[in-house]
Amino acid sequence: MTDLTPQKDAALAAIADAASLEALDEQRVAALGKKGWVSLALKTLGGMSPDERQVAAPAIQAVRAEIADAIDAKKAALEAAELEAQLASETLDLTLPAPATPQGSVHPVSQVMDELAEIFADLGFSVATGPEIEDDWHNFTALNMDESHPARAMHDTFYFPDAAPDSGKMLLRTHTSPVQIRSMKEQGAPIRLIAPGRVYRSDSDATHTPMFHQVEGLVVDRDIHLGHLKWTLETFFKAFFEREDITLRLRPSYFPFTEPSVEVDVGYSNEGNRRVVGGHGDAEGHDWMELGGSGMVNRRVLEMAGVDPDEYQGFAFGLGIDRIAMLKYGMNDLRAFFDGDPRWLSHYGFAAVDQPTLSAGVGAAS
Ligand code: DAH
Repeated sequence: MTDLTPQKDAALAAIADAASLEALDEQRVAALGKKGWVSLALKTLGGMSPDERQVAAPAIQAVRAEIADAIDAKKAALEAAELEAQLASETLDLTLPAPATPQGSVHPVSQVMDELAEIFADLGFSVATGPEIEDDWHNFTALNMDESHPARAMHDTFYFPDAAPDSGKMLLRTHTSPVQIRSMKEQGAPIRLIAPGRVYRSDSDATHTPMFHQVEGLVVDRDIHLGHLKWTLETFFKAFFEREDITLRLRPSYFPFTEPSVEVDVGYSNEGNRRVVGGHGDAEGHDWMELGGSGMVNRRVLEMAGVDPDEYQGFAFGLGIDRIAMLKYGMNDLRAFFDGDPRWLSHYGFAAVDQPTLSAGVGAAS
């Protein structure tokens, strides 16, 4: 029997020297592969006498086991080293500053809506919403504008092509007032809510856009009168514009859904080319500016919304959010609100962390 020791020593040395898993595998094939020298040595057993074989077989098996163990051990070591190298190369340095990313900002309309919610929540109002795709009944009929009512013509309504012959005509709501009807039908009276949202009219110039924002207000309870309306609006505007010298003028007007109806004007003065709210509109250097409509809810509207007008009265108001935002934050072109120009947004927008709160001031610094 040939002595395998020299081959074994050479193989063990080569295994120890293998620098990669590939190199190690070459050594495995050379020794233990089908044509490897260990396998060839095992094949010689068949040609031996039983006595020879009894000595040779355990010797060759021992060599085989020694080589296999050495390969396994080396393989584990090479794999551990490879993992170590990978972990080292993939290290993240968490102490590095974060890369610069574009900063978003809160649109003034969203900011003002948050301010409205904050101020009115403090007065016990909840926030209601309704669909922007509205039906004719909620947008007009239930608000005391039946089909022949002339006030409908003033709304420049976007109608949808009729979906089905029996379905009520669908439209883009022209005001937030239909939310009054939906909320009263759902919750009944008493009720105290604001409903901010988008409204649509087919109208477009420097002060009108086809989509704009309104906030509706509705209070229905027993013994509600115009005094409550005036106090509520005054309290709101003082908090919103953050000044005490707010003067409101309620001017007789007409809306189908209120009786009596008033338009709400606020005193202001000009500072440079900017209008600044405050003071009495008839005072020197001052004038009145219209901010919205309001009035006592028409009893026919209460009836249509399922509220008994002999038990309950209410007041309602509707204000243009874009307009009060322009006034408060000194913007003078309504169209820029909806252009999406990032320069305008970064100038007039608000940091996301500037949440309006009554304690810190609802008019967060921009
Ligand atoms: N819906 C009216 C409009 O868009 C505004 C309005 C006026 C709302 C009087 C009211 C109100 O709730 O009482 O022109």
